[in-house]
Amino acid sequence: MDLTQSSEHWQQMYSTRQEQELSWFEDAPNISLELLLTSQLDKDAPVLDIGGGASRLADALLDRGFTQPTVLDISEAALEKSKLRLANRASQVRWITADITRWEPDREYRAWHDRAVFHFFTEEEQRLAYRSALEKALTPGGVVVIGTFALDGPERCSGLPVRRYSPETLTAELGRSFSLATVRMVDHVTPAGKMQRFQFSRFVRK
Ligand SMILES: C[S@@+](CC[C@H](N)C(=O)[O-])C[C@H]1O[C@@H](n2cnc3c(N)ncnc32)[C@H](O)[C@@H]1O
Repeated sequence: MDLTQSSEHWQQMYSTRQEQELSWFEDAPNISLELLLTSQLDKDAPVLDIGGGASRLADALLDRGFTQPTVLDISEAALEKSKLRLANRASQVRWITADITRWEPDREYRAWHDRAVFHFFTEEEQRLAYRSALEKALTPGGVVVIGTFALDGPERCSGLPVRRYSPETLTAELGRSFSLATVRMVDHVTPAGKMQRFQFSRFVRK
């Protein structure tokens, strides 16, 4: 799937469906938050949510006093949903419409969060590009939280094939600059009532 197809796919998902019709919807990003907060981040630490879409992680970070959340997504429509929900708090968030596999960061981040995005990169070239963006964007000592479908999770999401991970295979994928620090196996229940097994891993950049 090339960039145009991918961006059109996600634009269409977010433009034609209500939030609760999307399988990945969760009303509170509890695991993500727990793993980010375990990292003892300063409140002014820049936190980047990759493929954050319409997730409420930015809201939760603002609620806890974080002053520099950034949300990046390939879909403008997704980010518009978040901006509408946040209303006058939207200006406290930095919004970036970009494909993570082509993005060049213009600043450094202390934390990188990704829930259900990396697993869509089924081609090695995409994963290398993702890792290159991660290495450019994250400061040494920075934290990475990545949630993907687990080895016994679904084989597809949003009509697209995914690559499933264990914490170990994800660690191998990120390479030696990242140490695995915390693991959570999580059962996400979709709004339609289906159970999806995720693995969430927290890494620290050496
Ligand atoms: C399954 S959704 C998860 C959304 C969000 N992380 C959450 O937990 O609600 C995948 C998200 O990744 C975004 N996405 C897909 N490919 C992307 C890419 N190449 N670059 C940036 N975002 C991408 C989609 O627009 C969508 O918002």
